[in-house]
Amino acid sequence: MPKHADGSAGDADYGTIGGGYAQYRQPEPKIAAYIEKALGAGQTVLNVGAGAGSYEPLDRVVTAIEPSASMRAQRPPHLPTAIDAVAERIPFPDAYFDASMATFTIHQWSDLRAGLLEMRRVTR
Ligand SMILES: C[S@@+](CC[C@H](N)C(=O)[O-])C[C@H]1O[C@@H](n2cnc3c(N)ncnc32)[C@H](O)[C@@H]1O
Repeated sequence: MPKHADGSAGDADYGTIGGGYAQYRQPEPKIAAYIEKALGAGQTVLNVGAGAGSYEPLDRVVTAIEPSASMRAQRPPHLPTAIDAVAERIPFPDAYFDASMATFTIHQWSDLRAGLLEMRRVTR
């Protein structure tokens, strides 16, 4: 059961505070480089708590999950549409993705351990 009207799953209600998020969250190049390196040779990538898509790689096949409708609506057209789902229950089979990522989101998950186990489960 979502905590907030727009589906936001954590303590933060992005339906209220998330307006304009895509304008002020701009990728920092050093962090983007770390993420690129960490993803390694992975071609299929899951982005959990994807928000408006900052730090989402453009040169891989990305699947994004994001519980807040407000955040999903801010994703630019060149990024994939995000699926309405939470980290604690990822709607994909075991070992489905080459790699998984999550940026600036785990502090909001209701069950960090469950979310990380789910990421591990769906990742080769
Ligand atoms: C600070 S934003 C970061 C968004 C994006 N990852 C970025 O780096 O810009 C945190 C995001 O985590 C999402 N979130 C909160 N709880 C979540 C959960 N349990 N599972 C998945 N995403 C969650 C929020 O809806 C929000 O979009």
